[in-house]
Amino acid sequence: MTHDGEPGSAAGRGEAVARDAGRRGSVGRAVPAAAHGGSGPSAQGSSVAGHGSAQDVPGASGVVAPPAGAPAPTAVPGEPWSTGVTRGDDGAVSVGGVDVRDLAAQHGTPVYVLDEADLRARAARLRGAFTAAFARVGAEIDVYYAGKAFLSLAVARWVHEEGLRVDASTGGELAVALRAGLPGADIGLHGNNKSDAELVRALDAGVGRIIVDSLVEVDRLADLVRNRGGEPAPVMVRVTTGVHAGGHEYIATAHEDQKFGLSVAADEGGDSPAMTALLAVLARPELRLLGLHSHIGSQILDPSGFAVAARTVLALRADLGRRTGVLVEEIDLGGGYGIAYLPGERAMVPETVARDVADAVAAAAAELETPLPRFSIEPGRAVVGPAGLTLYTVGTVKPVRLDDGRVRTYVSVDGGMSDNIRPALYGAQYHAEVVGRLSSAPAVLARVVGKHCESGDVVVHEVWLPGDVRAGDLLAVAATGAYGRSMASNYNLVPRPPVVAVRDGGSRVLVRRETEDDLLSLDQG
Ligand SMILES: Cc1ncc(COP(=O)(O)O)c(C=O)c1O
Repeated sequence: MTHDGEPGSAAGRGEAVARDAGRRGSVGRAVPAAAHGGSGPSAQGSSVAGHGSAQDVPGASGVVAPPAGAPAPTAVPGEPWSTGVTRGDDGAVSVGGVDVRDLAAQHGTPVYVLDEADLRARAARLRGAFTAAFARVGAEIDVYYAGKAFLSLAVARWVHEEGLRVDASTGGELAVALRAGLPGADIGLHGNNKSDAELVRALDAGVGRIIVDSLVEVDRLADLVRNRGGEPAPVMVRVTTGVHAGGHEYIATAHEDQKFGLSVAADEGGDSPAMTALLAVLARPELRLLGLHSHIGSQILDPSGFAVAARTVLALRADLGRRTGVLVEEIDLGGGYGIAYLPGERAMVPETVARDVADAVAAAAAELETPLPRFSIEPGRAVVGPAGLTLYTVGTVKPVRLDDGRVRTYVSVDGGMSDNIRPALYGAQYHAEVVGRLSSAPAVLARVVGKHCESGDVVVHEVWLPGDVRAGDLLAVAATGAYGRSMASNYNLVPRPPVVAVRDGGSRVLVRRETEDDLLSLDQG
């Protein structure tokens, strides 16, 4: 795993991607099956095996004819696009009732576009699915939106209005959630290296829980509470279960070589780091042990890992209960619910995963002869990812002849790795289409690249675009709502794009475009 939220190069370990060659493609063209699957990546996150190499180009040439019996000449709507994406007869795409040409004219490009209705619906569906499934086994569950995926004042309010709480992983995310008006009780604070200032701020805000990530943090936090006075801080302990998203085997006793959490695997002749931390929390009157937390990864398409991790955490809870008489009230199962990044890729279905996890925890609790605790989950990507797209303007289009005679069309856009680092960082795959017009030109295999001084500055490694793709075309990349703007940078001093919400035929700026003056204002000369 390359970071807390990504399978990164480990991707491809998830479910095989059901690719539907004929279902949709670039404008006017169906996508040959190999277009997305030739080099064998599975679900997003999907590292494109050897994505930097021309040899990975599927197909015999850069130009392909659409397969016989190619269906609808239009590509969108449908996954991986948000539900509010439609295409008009003239080929122009609209989102939330707003024509992308108008969005580009009004807000410029690149621009992140967030479909408010889609985002709200996903939040509500997750909450509804998990609430119903857990109620069926007699348990309650809260859904926290993982703000790291993307957080702004409006998004914090939307998810809260849909009945979600917010998980903040830094003081910055905490500040946004609070400024949005969320009560502290509806916010959780994460972080493997929280500063004293962040912890004090969380205490001042009366957050509902602080998820401690190390033994030293237990004492640091308890000392801060003691010095400050007031109520004991509600604490969860983040544990690592050895279960990894997308792995084929779940080794629930592994010591993990990573920075997050405390292992449930026993140290030789002693307690596990997780148990040691739990006992340490119980020993400090300044802390109130609320529960256990486990996050097994991101972009998970196979729900079985959640069930295995949940059983492990429930066993730890029972163990602690036997030793101390304290049966903690709550277990958080983390985030990681996978979405579709490519046409034909199947997102995790909330109702299915909720049912499977609820059944697993009910069975485990019965086996352990312990009552069920309250549960919580922390989805980020599954709420905001599919609701977003990035709109770019095409600039330079350059056919590049490869050693084997094939041609790859490099399509440069006016953004790149500064607004979406995931392809460069993890080899993540995305889908793109020309969205401002129709084209009947034969499709060409294209690589969408950015404007940065880095050859790894790739936006989409492989995608079939109309052969007449040209400067001035509007190009949209689907499912960029999560970890796009939130991981954006100013590399090459490129100002970060705005985030614009669309709804009911109107648009509004949630986060304005950065300007060169913004960048210069930080420079003290
Ligand atoms: C502790 C924790 N919870 C939730 C999430 C959200 O994951 P996702 O956006 O994949 O649902 C992450 C991602 O890094 C995380 O570290």
